[in-house]
Order: sequence, then structure tokens, then C-alpha cells
Amino acid sequence: MLFKRFLLLALTFCLLSCAFADSIQGAQMQQQTEQTQQAQQAQQGQQAQQAQQQQNWNHGGQQLTISQNKTNAWEDNGVQYSVFEVTLVNCGTTTIYDATVVAESNFIITKPSDVWTVEKVSENRYHFPSYLCQNGLEAGKNITFGYINKSTGPAVFSVCDLQFK
Ligand SMILES: *[C@@H]1O[C@H](CO)[C@@H](O)[C@H](O)[C@H]1NC(C)=O
Ligand SMILES: *[C@@H]1O[C@H](CO)[C@@H](O)[C@H](O)[C@H]1NC(C)=O
Ligand SMILES: *[C@@H]1O[C@H](CO)[C@@H](O)[C@H](O)[C@H]1NC(C)=O
Repeated sequence: MLFKRFLLLALTFCLLSCAFADSIQGAQMQQQTEQTQQAQQAQQGQQAQQAQQQQNWNHGGQQLTISQNKTNAWEDNGVQYSVFEVTLVNCGTTTIYDATVVAESNFIITKPSDVWTVEKVSENRYHFPSYLCQNGLEAGKNITFGYINKSTGPAVFSVCDLQFK
């Protein structure tokens, strides 16, 4: 009789602890799933950010934004060359009549003809071509210039001295 009771008690205990273990495991699994999801979301966010950074390598002023694309690349005698197309977009609401584009770093140009459309002001500094200084870059419009860099990566640009009339 006593033995039977003991057996029943033991069985109950066993069932209870199994259920408890199950629920703990369930909670742990859920936590793990949430953690995995969070990690995935963080990774996706990071990837999106990286993609965005590649699209817009450098933002210049708030009104004139810079983005660049590599449009061509080749190798000559073991030297890498890349052609980049840089687009300046007037994101503001007023016309811009001139701006200075400064190549901050990684801008190694072999000869003057390696940069086109913009006009050189001084070393590593360029400004709008004269027709654009006359007509202005209207809100929402863009200008594209190009350069050849003796490497595979882009140069780093900034813009300053925006001129309004
Ligand atoms: C860069 O290239 C991508 C893909 O071809 C294109 O969608 C984007 O408009 C280009 N950006 C510029 C600034 O030319
Ligand atoms: C630049 O302007 C052209 C037409 O004027 C347009 O097709 C192109 O999408 C614009 N590019 C950007 C990056 O705004
Ligand atoms: C541009 O070319 C120069 C000369 O080869 C190089 O030093 C520089 O690193 C290149 N820019 C980038 C971003 O790779």
C-alpha cells in the first residue's frame, strides 16, 4: 500500500518535472529564435546601410549631394585603372550657381584630361563648368562629371562654397 503510494508520488513528480523541463526548453527555444531574428535583422540593417553607403559614398553639403559609380575598369601593365562617374544632385529648393568639389583623398590623377566636365580651381579642387555657372543647377537637377583613378576604389569628395544668386 505504502509502496503503491510512493510509486504514484514518484510518477507524479516525474510527470511534473518533465512538463517543467519542457516549458523551460520551450522558453529557451523561443528566446533563441528571437535572438536569431534580432541578429538577422541587425545584419540586414547593416547590409542595407552598407549598400546605401556604396550608393552614396560621400554626402556633400545638405543641398548638393554626391554619389559615384564605377563605370569602367581595366589593367595596364599591372596597374589598375577605374573610371568613376560622380553625380551632384541639387536636393534643395533653390538654384545653385556654383560649388567647389574637393577631392579629400584617394584622388590620384595622372593627367588633366583624367577629369572631365568640372573645371579645375586648384590642386584637388574643382568647380562647375562655366555654362552651369551662368544657367545654374536648378532644384532637382543634377550634373555628372567623371575621372579616372589609378586604382580600383573611389576617391573621397566633399562639396563646399555653394553659390546662390
Ligand atoms: C549607379 O549605378 C546604379 C546601377 O547601375 C544606378 O541605379 C544608379 O542610378 C547610378 N548612380 C549614379 C549616380 O549614376
Ligand atoms: C540626373 O538627371 C537625369 C536627367 O536630367 C535623370 O535621368 C537622372 O535620373 C538624374 N540622376 C540622379 C542621380 O538624380
Ligand atoms: C586612387 O588611386 C591612387 C593611386 O593608385 C591610390 O593610391 C588610391 O588608393 C586610389 N583610391 C582608392 C580609393 O583606392
